[in-house]
Amino acid sequence: MPAFGVLAVVFSVYCMCFLVEGTYMVYNTSGGVVPGKINVHLVPHTHDDVGWLKTVDQYYVGSNNSIQVACVQNVLDSLIPALLADKNRKFIYVEQAFFQRWWRQQNDGMKDTVKELVSSGQLEFINGGMCMHDEAATHYIDMIDQTTLGHWYIKRDFNVTPRIGWQIDPFGHSAVQAYLLGAEVGFDALYFARIDYQDRAKRSAEKNLEVIWQGSKSRGSSSQIFTGAFYAGNYEPPTGFYYEVNDDSPIVQDDIELFDYNVQERVDAFVAAAYFQANVTRSNHIMWTMGTDFKYQYAHTWFRNMDKLIHYVNQDGRVNAFYSTPSIYTDVKHALDESWPLKSDDFFPYADRENAYWTGYFTSRPTSKGYIRVLSGYYLAARQLEFFVGRNKSGLTTDSLADALAIAQHHDAATGTEKQHVADDYAKRLSIGYEESKDVVAASLGCLTQSPLSSECKISITNFNQCPLLNISYCPATEVDLSAGKKIAVLVYNPLGWKRTSVVRIPVINENLSVSDSTGKLILSQLLPIVNASVSTRKFYASAYTGESPSSVPKYWLAFTAVVPPLGFSSYVISSGQSSATTELIPNTVVTGGIEVGSGNLKLIYSGKDGKLMKYINLRNSVNVSLEQSYSYYVGSTDELQASGAYVFRPNGTHTIQSEEKVFVFLIVLQFFLF
Ligand SMILES: *[C@@H]1O[C@H](CO)[C@@H](O)[C@H](O)[C@H]1NC(C)=O
Ligand SMILES: *[C@@H]1O[C@H](CO)[C@@H](O)[C@H](O)[C@H]1NC(C)=O
Ligand SMILES: *[C@@H]1O[C@H](CO)[C@@H](O)[C@H](O)[C@H]1NC(C)=O
Ligand SMILES: *[C@@H]1O[C@H](CO)[C@@H](O)[C@H](O)[C@H]1NC(C)=O
Ligand SMILES: *[C@@H]1O[C@H](CO)[C@@H](O)[C@H](O)[C@H]1NC(C)=O
Ligand SMILES: *[C@@H]1O[C@H](CO)[C@@H](O)[C@H](O)[C@H]1NC(C)=O
Ligand SMILES: *[C@@H]1O[C@H](CO)[C@@H](O)[C@H](O)[C@H]1NC(C)=O
Ligand SMILES: *[C@@H]1O[C@H](CO)[C@@H](O)[C@H](O)[C@H]1NC(C)=O
Ligand SMILES: *[C@@H]1O[C@H](CO)[C@@H](O)[C@H](O)[C@H]1NC(C)=O
Repeated sequence: MPAFGVLAVVFSVYCMCFLVEGTYMVYNTSGGVVPGKINVHLVPHTHDDVGWLKTVDQYYVGSNNSIQVACVQNVLDSLIPALLADKNRKFIYVEQAFFQRWWRQQNDGMKDTVKELVSSGQLEFINGGMCMHDEAATHYIDMIDQTTLGHWYIKRDFNVTPRIGWQIDPFGHSAVQAYLLGAEVGFDALYFARIDYQDRAKRSAEKNLEVIWQGSKSRGSSSQIFTGAFYAGNYEPPTGFYYEVNDDSPIVQDDIELFDYNVQERVDAFVAAAYFQANVTRSNHIMWTMGTDFKYQYAHTWFRNMDKLIHYVNQDGRVNAFYSTPSIYTDVKHALDESWPLKSDDFFPYADRENAYWTGYFTSRPTSKGYIRVLSGYYLAARQLEFFVGRNKSGLTTDSLADALAIAQHHDAATGTEKQHVADDYAKRLSIGYEESKDVVAASLGCLTQSPLSSECKISITNFNQCPLLNISYCPATEVDLSAGKKIAVLVYNPLGWKRTSVVRIPVINENLSVSDSTGKLILSQLLPIVNASVSTRKFYASAYTGESPSSVPKYWLAFTAVVPPLGFSSYVISSGQSSATTELIPNTVVTGGIEVGSGNLKLIYSGKDGKLMKYINLRNSVNVSLEQSYSYYVGSTDELQASGAYVFRPNGTHTIQSEEKVFVFLIVLQFFLF
């Protein structure tokens, strides 16, 4: 049908001419604060989880997109030209784990460009830790460390320090966070999204979403930080203002030659959303978080639409819109003559609706939580030891453990809310970090124990064996026959800043052992039976971890009390054949009646029948109370509207274990000695 063909050609030629001559628009994005108007701070951002449904590296490179379409290098690659296209555009970037992956792949030209964008304020680092850490399941030292590491990179590469805390996604917030990120890190403000839905409703009604948060009672006003909870409970744009390529919000269509011109309609929607938010906010400044998870993979669509909104909304004049950052927003809020309500204590627990208390993650993946915590303590010791002998730049460092631990504080890592292959990825990183750090520890201790301590000590990594598998009573170095006069030296290091007294437990195969301290004095020790250890269990874990295949089970734990100075170590020697007076053997039998535990004034009486605690006696203040102990467990609700799960804890009743189900008394006795 030739007639149509001709028509089409004519139409397209006409159209191209028109575009060149008439519809090329220059958008005016140059605004700033206008006093007396509602000021809408548009804050372009992306929220990039350092592992969740995909691993951190899968998110970075954009692999496994069938799980989630997310590629952080697309975000950063497309962001830079989008910022360069208009100097009024701004962006904040948060997670240094991703940024560092990208940064080290860039050439010098790109690095210079990015440095300029940072120094002009177009690109700003917010929060600035390696990840956006969880605040409930993490240790405060790990929060400090992961923040410090990210800030260290930013300082090194850009000589700037992040000013704003941006904990937009973690599932509730701890007062320790306010104190650490307010008083200690020196942030000027802290922002987040997730607080309890009822608290949020009340705060909205009372315009109390923005507060002065006092994180510590004892530190009072020196632990305060200006804190804003987002009005909608999320960190996304208002409905209808999402501009990722596949989002279904209406594109701002301002070409009158095309169908679906909608400028007035979008401006009206913008103004309505701004009025709505201003209605729950003190002062006439409001922040719009323009972005969400893994957005800006094609940054241009966001900026193109925001350019138009700023242009047309300001032309309309009812409200004032402009590109902003949380720092600019905070400065404005600080400068206002406004009084803010005071908030103390936590924003925990977090429920986002009825029956949806996000407390499941307090215990999800407990072994992963345990592994992180154990290695966090180990890292504290390892980097001190690394520091004592001087960092060996060409050789092994604790850096990979620092990196793995930092990433593991992410709010889908330590929380246990990640997919299984992602949990495996965190564990693998931690394990690699441990392997490298353990050689640093061995070398350093080898160095420090040489006498006299020389400045150029000989480093020998093999001098010290460490026992990471004490959790399965496996330690080849101590499971040796000492009856023929062999001795074992045990070194106990204390990374804490105060003297420490704790019970050390090592698996041994001999009876009649004695322990002496570094002066040669015998100290009290005890042999405890290793209950229910099986060779197959040991084989299973030891071979998975070390490749070794133990063929027997040691019979005893040797327990003794180590006294260790702050940031120092104590050594003990274990040998055989000494006075049995120092070594008591707790019989591997359950006596009838009560089992009394404790020396001195404090005693606990356990039932010999079922191992339960029956009595607490304190002779000093004449307390003699009977106790009843039972073991219970929860069954998760399977309600399809809100089931119990990794995030939300929703029990369906409480179930008590019947008393016929015996509990092992030795486990309780051991624990008493240990803690
Ligand atoms: C651009 O917008 C700003 C703020 O709305 C205004 O002050 C300025 O006059 C505008 N510039 C032009 C060229 O329209
Ligand atoms: C994609 O994820 C799966 C787990 O769902 C993992 O087994 C696989 O190795 C991943 N593929 C890539 C290319 O990383
Ligand atoms: C502002 O809040 C009041 C009281 O809650 C409500 O009646 C009114 O509709 C709100 N206005 C807007 C624009 O949301
Ligand atoms: C640093 O480590 C390397 C590799 O482990 C080792 O060969 C070298 O001797 C170490 N240097 C110092 C000064 O300890
Ligand atoms: C013991 O600890 C190791 C290393 O931390 C871990 O891989 C292993 O799963 C643990 N075993 C048990 C039984 O908890
Ligand atoms: C341990 O010492 C006790 C008392 O001295 C003795 O009866 C026992 O045979 C010794 N056990 C071993 C294995 O040497
Ligand atoms: C310990 O071993 C005994 C005897 O083999 C067995 O009945 C019991 O279930 C075991 N307990 C545990 C906690 O494995
Ligand atoms: C504790 O009280 C019980 C009776 O209630 C008594 O038999 C026992 O001797 C008391 N123990 C001590 C240490 O006072
Ligand atoms: C709660 O438990 C009962 C019985 O234990 C079961 O019948 C019911 O389906 C459970 N309800 C939910 C919502 O899980």
